[in-house]
Amino acid sequence: MTRYRDFHRRSIDNPEAFWRDEAQRIHWHTPFGTVLDRSKPPFARWFVGGRTNLCHNAVDRHLAERAQQNALIYVSTETGIERHYTYAELHAEINRMAAVMRSLGVKRGDVVLIYLPMIPEALFAMLACARLGAIHSVVFGGFAAPNLAARIDDAKPALIVTADAGARGGKVIDYTPLVDEALARAAHKTPHVLLIDRQLAPERLNAPYLVAYEPLREQFFNAHVPCEWLESNEPSYVLYTSGTTGKPKGVQRDVGGYAVALAASMEYIFQGKPGDTMFTASDVGWVVGHSYIVYAPLIAGLTTVMYEGTPIRPDGGIWWRLVEQHKINIMFTAPTALRVLKKQDPALLKAADLSSLRTLFLAGEPLDEPTAEWITNALSKPVIDNYWQTETGWPMLAIPRGIEDLPNKLGSPGVPSVGYNLTIRDELTGEPCAVGEKGVLTLDYPLPPGCMSTVWGDDRRFVSTYWSSVPNQQVYSTFDWGVQDENGYVTILGRTDDVINVAGHRLGTREIEEALSSHAAVAEVAVVGVNDPVKGQAAMAFVVLRSAQPEGDPSERARLEAELAMTVDRQLGSIARPARVVMVSMLPKTRSGKLLRRAIAALAEGREPGELPTIEDPAALQQVRDALGDGGKN
Ligand code: PRX
Repeated sequence: MTRYRDFHRRSIDNPEAFWRDEAQRIHWHTPFGTVLDRSKPPFARWFVGGRTNLCHNAVDRHLAERAQQNALIYVSTETGIERHYTYAELHAEINRMAAVMRSLGVKRGDVVLIYLPMIPEALFAMLACARLGAIHSVVFGGFAAPNLAARIDDAKPALIVTADAGARGGKVIDYTPLVDEALARAAHKTPHVLLIDRQLAPERLNAPYLVAYEPLREQFFNAHVPCEWLESNEPSYVLYTSGTTGKPKGVQRDVGGYAVALAASMEYIFQGKPGDTMFTASDVGWVVGHSYIVYAPLIAGLTTVMYEGTPIRPDGGIWWRLVEQHKINIMFTAPTALRVLKKQDPALLKAADLSSLRTLFLAGEPLDEPTAEWITNALSKPVIDNYWQTETGWPMLAIPRGIEDLPNKLGSPGVPSVGYNLTIRDELTGEPCAVGEKGVLTLDYPLPPGCMSTVWGDDRRFVSTYWSSVPNQQVYSTFDWGVQDENGYVTILGRTDDVINVAGHRLGTREIEEALSSHAAVAEVAVVGVNDPVKGQAAMAFVVLRSAQPEGDPSERARLEAELAMTVDRQLGSIARPARVVMVSMLPKTRSGKLLRRAIAALAEGREPGELPTIEDPAALQQVRDALGDGGKN
């Protein structure tokens, strides 16, 4: 363990020296002066004065050596389309997209909101923004119109890039009606909407505000748009994520620090070398997609595989066949996908030649031991769990096999990555916990390069949300519980706040509650996460109706439940839809009126809630028990 320990220690004791060396991994148009500006904690500015560009580092820089190497392999099992783009072709496509954006008035510092399914143009658009010095804000294609509207109003984009439709599991989802509704709801008036026409939903193409991409692409076919050299700390993107309040937070990322951190992570954690092929099965709407579909593999000169579709269509062997066909070396997905694949015919995995595959990485939610054991045995390759957040941009915990080949510990995502000064702290005193003692996982100042610079447009919220929740210490809270063993391995023990994790998607229970409350029949609602064998967690809603419960009439109750589920679909998107809606006549609360969510969750999982600080009316607990026991009919 000594090599890792020494390495990590140096990154903490002397971050300036450590990251000055790491910064050599990328191209700087103008060298930086100060490595780390600590003048305004908890803000940290990395590589001050250095000028660089993410698109240059991801694409242009490789043209001299790997212009003819594939940069992007795109596979859609939804449309049957497969396309390959060399670095030279990718460069040309990004230039076209950048020229189109520029012709629509997009300039350095403007926000471009990208609401796209998994198509190559999503990656082109992100990198075109980087090229122009525009700030992209990718909104996950599964989000509904009100959600999109809230992000439009917060990000105030100069341009929205969208498509006619997305597709999942063979179902086409029209995007333009959602964009239409979002634009009508938003107070901010977005000047242009650029439409990528996939010809999946042709009847929607005439909406008056849309500018079609294809004719403009033709017009700018031979365009060359120079890279804007940005100061290292200018924003590269904003990515919204859920927290405790209903208002999503825009996680703002810098340019130079992000590029350096990703490049370092590709060596120390992912062990990706130039020419390797990496398949990250996630979505560009999530941070895993930003970092490990788009930026990191390209910065490191790899071929990235972008996939539209589910892991089980046309059958459960599709991902393994992709590994064989494209000689994939590194694969990265979320445990949920593996829990789905575990249920498939094992012959599908065995039939594929997986000899190219070196390592499988998993992140986004807890990796349960049975799934970890199954996949490790089935692949006979290292399976590396890694723990991080939208906020950090790259793994906080992993097995840094590029530094030292430390053993895996079942149930733990590993040890702190370089640069992360991680401490488990007592939630009441803020003091470090002893080995083996449960506490809140925190990071000491400064966060390493690549982590969020602030909350978009709200520095105060950055400080008050992330740096003010641990008593007596100004440290960053992850809002995760954890415990560390004597060798430094950390085990994650769930969230300290009201965020739940459904199939690797981070959802705020407060957002779902707000969506349900908007229904006229709802008086009060509590949403909790309960264990789910495939999705890790599922949302369960406990609803108190305004009028008496429609007890006697099961069909009326079923109708109302379906309507409530639809309300969530319309407000947030189907990923947030509660798995079950349970009607109760009162909710358990403390005497001060705070919902006892943990007690409700315990009951929903068939556990007793244990000692409660105060309770307004103990009969409410019995209510929940009774409603749950109702043979699942609720
Ligand atoms: O609770 C932790 C859980 O997912 C949260 C972050 O989600 P998100 O912002 O979507 O970023 C995902 C980046 C991979 C964390 O606060 N989480 C993430 N990875 C793990 C995890 N929980 C347990 N084990 C993990 N490996």
